[in-house]
Amino acid sequence: MAETNPEHSFIVVANRLPVDRCEDTWQTAPGGLVSALAPIVKAERGAWIGWAGAFVEAVAPFEFDQMSLVPVPLSHAEHRDYYEGFSNGVLWPLYHDLIVTPQYHRTWWRAYRAINFRFAQAVVRTAAFGATIWVHDYHLQLVPHMIRLLRPDVRIGFFNHIAFPPVELFGQLPWRREVVEGLLGADVIGFQRSSDAENFRAAVRKFAADADAPSPLIEAFPISVDTEAIRQAADSESVARTATQIRRDLGDPDILMLGIDRLDYTKGIPHRLRAFDELLADDLLSPKTTNFLQVAVPSREGIAAYQDLRDEVERLVGRINGRFATPGRGIVQYSHHSYSFEDTVALYLAADVLVVSSLRDGMNLVAKEFVTARRNRAGALVLSEFAGAVDELEQAIVVNPHDISELKNGMHQAACLDDTQARERIAAMTATVEDHDVHRWAHRFLATLRAASPLDLAMGKTATDHHDRTPQKMTSCE
Ligand code: F6P
Repeated sequence: MAETNPEHSFIVVANRLPVDRCEDTWQTAPGGLVSALAPIVKAERGAWIGWAGAFVEAVAPFEFDQMSLVPVPLSHAEHRDYYEGFSNGVLWPLYHDLIVTPQYHRTWWRAYRAINFRFAQAVVRTAAFGATIWVHDYHLQLVPHMIRLLRPDVRIGFFNHIAFPPVELFGQLPWRREVVEGLLGADVIGFQRSSDAENFRAAVRKFAADADAPSPLIEAFPISVDTEAIRQAADSESVARTATQIRRDLGDPDILMLGIDRLDYTKGIPHRLRAFDELLADDLLSPKTTNFLQVAVPSREGIAAYQDLRDEVERLVGRINGRFATPGRGIVQYSHHSYSFEDTVALYLAADVLVVSSLRDGMNLVAKEFVTARRNRAGALVLSEFAGAVDELEQAIVVNPHDISELKNGMHQAACLDDTQARERIAAMTATVEDHDVHRWAHRFLATLRAASPLDLAMGKTATDHHDRTPQKMTSCE
């Protein structure tokens, strides 16, 4: 492991590093964000700053696959207060329509501020003069302003991967002004949807100390998936074999419905299981020829709301199977573990219908992956009106997941869609996603950032100069 070069002109800052620890080695972490950003970090000989994951001992910066990785250490108490506490016990529910109640603990806020400052200091140590810094997601909303105070020479972009709430909900946050001003340190602030950008503008007007100060560019940049990688996997023989085997193992059902989500209360998993239960009970679908395959990837297992959700989902799966399964024929297949990328694509190919019933979702990349994998095939997508993907995937069957009758009708319509219609709808959605893949997303964001903040290196200022760039002393937040 070589020591990392201390100065980089392109830096990604995210809660997690793009690698997972596997016994004694590091492996590339799965996911669209890593496949979109890693090539850019490599091409720019850049760095990625992030947390190395739970229970990994403190590690020095190291080189991995032509990227410089800079781990930010978190103790157990910091993981509890910053990650499980403020990020996922306050911000996550607050930004997802209060599906569970946020707990506004001041100790969690102090940990959040301290860890954001630790990330900002890591940037300051790693960034070359005039570097481009791209900060990601709700865990790090104070980082743009903290960097701005310490390093007025750099350009800073921020992208929020989750929804941004309406001002009436956001206003509950005791530290709403600090969060708004933390984000305003960026030159460009990107959101998934224009409604999120509009919500943030309203929060600036209401809560920023100087709402009339020149502000950064605030815009929607809907994220996407790596369509080429999905297409290659979907076209491979081994994935096709796995898909056939999945259906065979289920007894070759007429209809296979699929749900794939992190086990998160925002995803509406109980809602879709209740709707499926009613479809069988009402004889609209036959338990002899229909299956539901629900993959629930373990997530944030230290948090009570996630443990409660697991109990609820497992009780519902047990109830449906108890009512409708017969010896040798289960109805709901439930997996509480993750699948490899290839096996996930095989699940997309095996299924006839994907059900996305999120109660609130920044985008929902599973929906975009499904339509990409099913290119040139039939298939139906039931999609919540509360998922960001609904803005683009116009040929989905759109439902309000809180309305179990509507969800049920949508799932029934999907199961009954004729082959020609199902192909046409998938083809239209595939084309939309292919036109806006994750590489285009990343390039568009960075081009916007570079245009919004053309650096005048001699002056150490931006030409637009929409921030006060005077270097200031940062008081320690730790
Ligand atoms: O969707 C928001 C997000 O933070 C993603 O960036 C991340 O992949 C996912 O949730 C999983 O979250 P965690 O890092 O808490 O496991």
